Amino acid sequence: MNILDIIAKKRDKKELTRNEIEYFVKGYTDGSITDYQAAALVMAIYINGMNERETTDLTLFMAHSGDVLDLSSLGEVVDKHSTGGVGDKITLILMPIVASLGIPVAKMSGRGLGFTGGTVDKLESIPGYNTNVPVDEFIQNVKKIGISLIGQTLNLAPADKKLYALRDTISCTESIPLIASSIMSKKIASGANKIVIDVTCGSGAFMKNIESAKELARVMTKIGELAHKETKCIITDMNQPVGYAVGNTLEVIEAIDVLKGKILPEDIKHIITELGANMLILADKANSLEEGKTKILENLKNGKGYEKFIELVQNQGGDISYIENTDKFAKAKYILPIIAEKSGVVEELDAYKIGKLSVFLGAGRMKKEDNIQKEVGFIFHKKVGDKVEKGEVLGYVHANEKDKANEVINQLIYEIV
Ligand code: URA
Repeated sequence: MNILDIIAKKRDKKELTRNEIEYFVKGYTDGSITDYQAAALVMAIYINGMNERETTDLTLFMAHSGDVLDLSSLGEVVDKHSTGGVGDKITLILMPIVASLGIPVAKMSGRGLGFTGGTVDKLESIPGYNTNVPVDEFIQNVKKIGISLIGQTLNLAPADKKLYALRDTISCTESIPLIASSIMSKKIASGANKIVIDVTCGSGAFMKNIESAKELARVMTKIGELAHKETKCIITDMNQPVGYAVGNTLEVIEAIDVLKGKILPEDIKHIITELGANMLILADKANSLEEGKTKILENLKNGKGYEKFIELVQNQGGDISYIENTDKFAKAKYILPIIAEKSGVVEELDAYKIGKLSVFLGAGRMKKEDNIQKEVGFIFHKKVGDKVEKGEVLGYVHANEKDKANEVINQLIYEIV
């Protein structure tokens, strides 16, 4: 067997065997298959797809490409994952709330991918927060305070770690077999018993329409079934960014403001209650969606979610004075307003465009090795359906380079009719 034949087979739209998929995953993980060969195969998969059997094999070999955690000592662990989006800070808000309701949270998150942000990049905006902890400490943290949020740093699904970073830089993110195998391999390797997946749908998601979102949900649910992990997929809207902030530090601040009870944007409320209620049901901590939603909102409003977030940050070495006083976070050099050029109603605030512009500002990566600028991004004041007056401030661009800020403002981020 050799990688050239495997690439050619997929290029020619043929089905790969189990052994060929295993050969690829092992070879790419141990470095005997190069980045450019993997890039060619990934592109062929992106273009020609994979059937359910191939996708399941890819997932399972990726899941077993490194360690597989045994979290049985923690009880019923219900994990949550998002298929990615713009302004998606849901993990930062929901997981401490869920932990405060007694469900152990042992979660491994990713970095930004393509035009979407990643929880690890956001967590690392908090000075001192260590996303890179050894496995014993990860499990100990969950035993001690009920929650640990870390990066893909343990030797879990290393094949996904390499493929995820590669896909990001070769325009191969929006693919059902590649997304399903990426997410489910991590979830299987990280040892959760049950999984709730936020399948985002819209311009700022990898799945642009409801049919493809449903198909991705179906494939992941099926893989979960085969791997004996009860999996529930919830489709959520990603046509405009989630909440009002986009960019790593700016999103962390918005998440903190929600946890402190200062704000609760409607879309954030909808997503945390839908996902949270399903997590509570899977963990046998609620009997109905209504009961689950009430519990999530209760622990947001009574501050228990915020207290758990503080404990989490402290336990992972983060400086909680930044959480207590978010004015301490470093700011971008230029904070320039976006002004309405006419009166009307906001028809579109295109999440995809905003995601791309955030990467342009430096919030995401163009190459695997790029450093990101934590403080850049957007704060919006208006969302779709809001009325605006000519001359009104619609939001702010946070940038470290003035030219970039002006270029972004000239891109007509808001569609007003
Ligand atoms: N999230 C992941 O973990 N993987 C993907 O491919 C997309 C979103």
